[in-house]
Amino acid sequence: MDAFLIEGGRPLRGSVEVRGAKNAALPMMAAALLMDEGKLVLRRVPNLADIKSMVLVLQQLGVRVDRRGHEMTLQVVSEKNCRAPYELVSKMRASVCVLGPLVGKRRQAEVSMPGGCSIGDRPIDLHLKGLAALGASVAVERGYVIASARRLAGNSMYLGGPFGSTVTGTENVLMAAVLAPGTTVIECAACEPEVQEVARLLVRMGARIDGIGSPRLTVHGVRKLRGCTFDIIPDRIEAGTFMAAAAITGGDVSIERVDPGHLMCVTECLKQAGAHIETGPDWIRVIGNGMFRPVSVATLPYPGFPTDMQAQFMALMTRGEGISIITERIYPERFHHVPEFGRMGANIRREGPSAIVIGTKELSGAPVMASDLRAAAGLLVAALAARGETLLQRVYHLDRGYDQIEQRLEALGARIRRVDLKPESRSSPLREAV
Ligand code: EPZ
Repeated sequence: MDAFLIEGGRPLRGSVEVRGAKNAALPMMAAALLMDEGKLVLRRVPNLADIKSMVLVLQQLGVRVDRRGHEMTLQVVSEKNCRAPYELVSKMRASVCVLGPLVGKRRQAEVSMPGGCSIGDRPIDLHLKGLAALGASVAVERGYVIASARRLAGNSMYLGGPFGSTVTGTENVLMAAVLAPGTTVIECAACEPEVQEVARLLVRMGARIDGIGSPRLTVHGVRKLRGCTFDIIPDRIEAGTFMAAAAITGGDVSIERVDPGHLMCVTECLKQAGAHIETGPDWIRVIGNGMFRPVSVATLPYPGFPTDMQAQFMALMTRGEGISIITERIYPERFHHVPEFGRMGANIRREGPSAIVIGTKELSGAPVMASDLRAAAGLLVAALAARGETLLQRVYHLDRGYDQIEQRLEALGARIRRVDLKPESRSSPLREAV
């Protein structure tokens, strides 16, 4: 099983280009199911494990997928199969995004309930509520969502839940509504850039959607959608991860082909922590000094502080000059990285949905275990600044959301390499892993 061996303490310097956004590409791929004719060409598709998983699900559902570098062409060749099986959906939660377009276009769907994951409970009740509001009959049987609708009709609905809006829930209901006769109003719609881009793609395909970027989306159903060519926005979380890495290592890195407007909250918090940040139309330069003023944050729906940057920001706060409180308002259990940071010498205490981080002078390298994609990213950021070597295990989590991350960090001066851990060496000291 792959691991990363990281020699920390080297400032990152240079420039890095941000790849296309994973969480925009995945629902956009699912939108191909809505096409009556033509081909959907997506450009700037990142080369990630999650993208490969979505390709397998779509191929099962009669979509032909061709890839040429970062360009992907999708075409519906058969609408016969409407079942997305457990063995594929359980690999990647975002596969649930095929539910809405299947109901919207084929009026039927059998999609396995997405597996749980280590960041906490991840229900899809709001997805199902929205589909039912459009007239679909929805049931959960033997671990599958069984949805069917002789006909759909536009309707008004409130899609907020106990933790606010739902990103993929909004995307699913939107993709079901665009072909539903009449008018649909989605209140408390998610406003994340990725959701906005799915809506813009649907409009480019022929849908009629008002209020994009606002918590109220109004959809006027149309008869059919056609293919088009669409550029995927830069991955704001990947960009934020590189920003954190530059800051914690006391480096000087220019992050390019990014939309600074998608990262205002992260940029603000990094500035408050003491990083020097300059921004241009499509670049952000981060100059860090390795030690930080304490900044307390709470994760919130966009444009608030993104939960997907929580672990990476916590890594910075462990190198702080005081006490910061990091509160999870989206996934209150999303703290599996805390004990791993503790193994590196960080001083963090859980208090319910918050983590109290007491800054220490330095972190020390250690064998640590990734539990999910963004916990892995946070541990990677910490390892880049820690004194000595860190063995970051289960990097398959990172491969889900970061394309060639070790090569790109190495190009910035990091000392990092992928090692294949033999089973007997998994918990042994570093030297045997080399
Ligand atoms: C999306 O997940 C992202 N994934 C997640 O990124 C991200 O962390 C999350 O949004 C929050 O920003 C993709 O876009 C593929 P939600 P999603 O529905 O849509 C609750 C990553 O690392 N909720 O917005 O599944 C839910 O439990 C991943 O790239 C309900 O209660 O998240 C959570 O507390 C991790 N009922 C909150 O809402 C529902 O029906 C937000 O969840 C749906 C959600």
